This record gives sequence, structure tokens and C-alpha cells, in this order.
Amino acid sequence: MENKNLNLIYFSPTNTTKKVLDAIANGVNSQKVNKIDLIKENNVKKQNFSDDDFVIIGVPVYSGRIPITVINRLKNFKAINTKAVLVVVYGNRQYGDALLELKNLAVELGFLPIAAAAFIGEHSFSSSKYPIANGRPNLTDMKFAEDFGERIKTKFGMKYSEIKVPGNYPYIERLDKFILKPKIDLELCKRCGLCQEVCSVYAISIFDDKIEIDEKLCIYCHACVKICPQNAITIDDKRIIGFSKILHEKCKQPKEPEIFL
Ligand SMILES: Cc1cc2nc3c(=O)[nH]c(=O)nc-3n(C[C@H](O)[C@H](O)[C@H](O)COP(=O)(O)O)c2cc1C
Repeated sequence: MENKNLNLIYFSPTNTTKKVLDAIANGVNSQKVNKIDLIKENNVKKQNFSDDDFVIIGVPVYSGRIPITVINRLKNFKAINTKAVLVVVYGNRQYGDALLELKNLAVELGFLPIAAAAFIGEHSFSSSKYPIANGRPNLTDMKFAEDFGERIKTKFGMKYSEIKVPGNYPYIERLDKFILKPKIDLELCKRCGLCQEVCSVYAISIFDDKIEIDEKLCIYCHACVKICPQNAITIDDKRIIGFSKILHEKCKQPKEPEIFL
């Protein structure tokens, strides 16, 4: 383990997946950690991994699946004899077929999945009016993630054996993509550009007198809403608000992280 490179590959618009992966990496406690952030397609380079590498891949769950944006970006990677740990982070509703989908994709790319986990993160749609899993991952989740990191450290050194993860194939059908546009209050907006920086699909263009958002590109990940220091951005689409209200009411019981070794 000491001489191997630990690679963290993640897509995390609202940062919960990144937090979980960082905690797992703390538990692994490797000397060499290389972080590959998939948030900006332009920064994602084709890369091959070998048996000198270990990889942890972390992805949020969107509608019980892994986001198409992430699938396309992960296809830049190829692996030969590279052990991998697969992590999905979901907003306390359910992770559906996301872990199985991630496992199948990882195998297709050549990885050897030796462990997997499903963690809970504050739901992207959570708001002060309708909180959903707010504050997750919390300290207990982070400790759980670190302990998981310690456990997988030993598995990295062991002979590969296939893991089983929950999920069904054919996967749950993806919901049709909504065409919607976050709203920007130009009076509040200070043109700091943070929203543009975090937008994973390059949907935001900032001009002196206006900001344009391409609603066909937007994946309503809420990164821009959550990062705006002025609270100038909202997604007040009635379907999203309707979902938030239902999730707030139906997903109150906190779920626990699950691991598969
Ligand atoms: C479009 C979309 C769909 C989502 N679908 C689900 C879901 O099916 N189940 C669930 O529990 N959470 C769902 N979530 C919530 C995210 O999985 C959760 O908030 C996750 O922590 C976000 O990860 P990030 O902070 O790394 O972006 C969804 C979020 C978005 C933006």
C-alpha cells in the first residue's frame, strides 16, 4: 500500500460527496493522494491507471442513478488491474440502482471493485423551508467514513474477490430532464463569478449588465444556488419545490451509511 498512489475521483456539485471521500482517504492514510475533480469537463484528462494505483470513485445519486454527466467524464479513464472502491452519496431518499450502475461502469473501464459504500449527504434540494438530510454527512457519518477507509486499506493488499452491491438491471428509468432555469436576482448579485466557477455544465455566462443561464444545459445540481454568498440564485420551479416538500415530509427518518466488502 505504501508505494501505491491513492487516487480520489469525484463529482460533487454541492460538496457532500467530496467530504465523504476526503474522510475515507483520511482513514486510508496514504502518503500519496491524487485528487481528480470531475466538476469541470475541460480539466478532465484521459488517464490510465495500473496496479501501482488505488482508486476511490465518488458520485452523487440523481433519480436513483448516477448522473449522465459523470458517466461521460468517467469514460476518460482506463484501468488495468487497478483496485477500486466505489461510493455513492444520496439525499436520504434512496440510492436505487446507482451503486450497481457505478460498479458495472467501473468494471467496463477495467477497474477491480473491492469495496463499495452508500453514504448520505444533505439533499441538493434541501432549503431552510424544506430541510432534507440537512447537515449530512455529519460527524458520525465522517467517523464512519474514516473507519471504512481503515478497513479498505487492508483490502487493497488482499487478493481480488468480486463484491456484490444492491441494485437491479435493467436500471430504474431516468426521469425526463426538466427544462428549467435558476433565477438570478441581479440587484443582489455582485458578479463575483462563483456560480460560473462551480457550474459543471458551463451553463452560466456573466456579462456586465446581465447573466445568462442556458436552461438546456442546466442539470439542477444546485451548486450555484448553494455557493452564492448573496443568496441571489434560486430554483423556484414548482416541480422542484413540490419534490422538496414531499422529500422533506417523507424522508425524515435518517438513513445510515451502508458498506459492501
Ligand atoms: C437532480 C437530482 C436528483 C437527485 N436524486 C436523488 C435520489 O434519487 N435519491 C436521493 O436520495 N437523493 C437524490 N438527490 C440528492 C443528492 O444525491 C444528494 O444531495 C447528494 O448528497 C449530492 O451530492 P453532492 O453534494 O456531492 O453534489 C438528487 C439530487 C439532484 C440534484
